Amino acid sequence: MNSVPTVRYEVNDQLAVITVDNPPVNAMAPGMREEIVAGIERANADPAVQAIVLTGANRNFIAGADIRQFGKARGISSAESTAAIVQSAKPIVAAIEGYCLGGGLEHALACHYRVAAPSARMGLPEIKIGLIPGGGGTQRLPRLVGARAALDLILSGRHVDAKEALALGIVDLVTEQPVLGAARDLIQRRSPAAPLPHVDSMTIQDADERVFAEARKRTARQRIKAAAYAIELVEAATSRSVPEGMALERARFSELEGSDESRALRYAFFAERTSAKVPGAPEDYRPPRVTRPAVIGAGTMGGGIAMAFADAGIAVRLLDASAEGLERGIQRIAANYAAKLKRNTITEDEIRERMALIQPTLSYDDIVDCDAVIEAVFERIDLKLEIFSKLDRIMGPDALLLTNSSAIDINTIASATQRPHMVAGSHFFAPANVMKLCEIVKGDASSIETILRAAKMGRDLGKISVIAGSCDGFAANRSRAPLVTEMMLLLEEGALPQQIDKVMMDFGYPMGPFAVSDLSGLDVSYDTRKRRAAANPEYRKLHVPDRLAEMGRHGQKVGAGWYRYEAGSRTPMPDPVVAEVIAGVARDFNIPQRQFSDDEILRRLLFASVNEACKIIDEGKALRASDIDVMWLNGFGFPRHRGGLLYWADSIGADNIYRQISEWHAAYGKRWQPSRLLASIAAASGQLREATAA
Ligand code: COA
Repeated sequence: MNSVPTVRYEVNDQLAVITVDNPPVNAMAPGMREEIVAGIERANADPAVQAIVLTGANRNFIAGADIRQFGKARGISSAESTAAIVQSAKPIVAAIEGYCLGGGLEHALACHYRVAAPSARMGLPEIKIGLIPGGGGTQRLPRLVGARAALDLILSGRHVDAKEALALGIVDLVTEQPVLGAARDLIQRRSPAAPLPHVDSMTIQDADERVFAEARKRTARQRIKAAAYAIELVEAATSRSVPEGMALERARFSELEGSDESRALRYAFFAERTSAKVPGAPEDYRPPRVTRPAVIGAGTMGGGIAMAFADAGIAVRLLDASAEGLERGIQRIAANYAAKLKRNTITEDEIRERMALIQPTLSYDDIVDCDAVIEAVFERIDLKLEIFSKLDRIMGPDALLLTNSSAIDINTIASATQRPHMVAGSHFFAPANVMKLCEIVKGDASSIETILRAAKMGRDLGKISVIAGSCDGFAANRSRAPLVTEMMLLLEEGALPQQIDKVMMDFGYPMGPFAVSDLSGLDVSYDTRKRRAAANPEYRKLHVPDRLAEMGRHGQKVGAGWYRYEAGSRTPMPDPVVAEVIAGVARDFNIPQRQFSDDEILRRLLFASVNEACKIIDEGKALRASDIDVMWLNGFGFPRHRGGLLYWADSIGADNIYRQISEWHAAYGKRWQPSRLLASIAAASGQLREATAA
């Protein structure tokens, strides 16, 4: 495989073909824009050339600028290379297959014609990394497809397929034939005397103030600046020439490129891709796709996992021990799809297709030919041991045996089988069909192939698979548990749920942690705490949530938990009853009360988790700091524009955090015992985000 970025120039029968080649997706590396410009100049100077084709190697066009180069000097800008395309006297056709994103689409938009293969995927995804298109995208796309459609693409960052691109008018034609041949045919069909079509001279068809007002309304709650700038720029395109609009675009782009939010989002982009890399993976091992999965247990989690398979187009068998349980599970799935239909995120036909992919059964005989089984029954160890010992007896020798347990040791579960190397955790987050995180838990005996297969299964479900080791809570929940403890203890010391929730929402969470707890149910965590307390005599009891759960305040489903809820409403309302319970606990245990600043609340919650995350990495239960960040972003709603827990922690500084934790250790005792890894990173003035398991 060629890994040196190159731009090839070939002339073939009067057609100059400029091919961008930078595997795998032809990100635009430094020097490539210059070579595109040189190719255009060369073709224009060569009397033997009639027309030019811009295309990409590796079955892709260009997936945009090389994100690693942002913030560094990188030669000429896309503004300059697209200007060379626009100014070419000879026609230029963009021949597009595969990804044509960001700067790639901007180069295509500057071309006179665009032909696409059915595989083409186009979009301006810059918003996802806190940027706006910087090579004319905000000026040319609205001229081609209208302001409304352009704003939709730029503000969502979504990709459109070839069919939609054609319907929107982004491409001139979609063809089954090889794109180079289609480009040549197009050139041969056009009259050489006809003027070249230029997007720059088109006018925006729906230049209506209402379009922009709507877009502003829609993005009002987004915290990143890029959205506001994108709207400003598309609006500017209605009254300015392309060069004028692009000058403003350039200025805004430069400002955003250096912003904290874009840096954090770029970090998150690479952190997610790094999490797919498993050290020690055999070079030549390609994990096979899971094609015949079975899920055991038709409860909320099992049903959600079955939906995730159906949503990915994979037929799945759903097994439950009881006919009623199975029936209830199928009804719950149907109700979830019905709710999606109401929100217009699915069609009736799609629901029919997906329901048909979920095959309910009461018999293990129906799953013996499956290539993966995911157990998702109650967290009862005897039940799990029985199921795994049965699976061991009946399943084929290559079947993956996975558990969705969030609490039970993988090694214990694996010990029920004669093939512990085939056993691992695939821990989904509720709702399993929605949340992107799939924590792949490695037991001591799990083979690397088992882990790679399980991780691939997660990715095939559209999830982000991140690897963790087996320990109480694994990496994701274990790293969050101290935050939960601190939020409860802060209450005992004088804070209120609504204050803590506000601090976390101001930080960027979509919901506060107490409102989330009301959604998942106070009874669930109550049971987990009971189990932990029974197993650990030093377990610090959390009196406030215990008392609320014992009062039947189980959360939103009963209209009362940390908040109260009016009938039919999901809006949390502060409840004096909760304040009384808190005051009662403080009285009973003689806990002094005081006021907390927002900053102290934020630090107490997040530093507790930073400390635990360092312990997890130190013990090798997570491979790298960035994996924990990926878990927080995709499992817990941590604000993406802050990069992740440990990325954020670096903005405070490991030394500052270590000092504060040491003080709290002295004041509050053992639970604040500083992590060794944190101490060593602090002493070396290092970056937490770069920490890796030894
Ligand atoms: N710059 C630098 N590297 C990029 C890149 C870019 N624009 N786009 C992809 N890559 C790299 C990835 O880091 C990954 O590298 P790795 O194998 O070393 O981890 C590799 O290309 C493949 O990408 P991946 O995301 O794993 O493949 P995919 O097939 O799932 O998705 C894309 C492909 C193009 C959809 C996805 O990579 C993407 O969204 N890229 C960013 C596109 C973008 O934002 N462009 C505009 C930039 S302004």
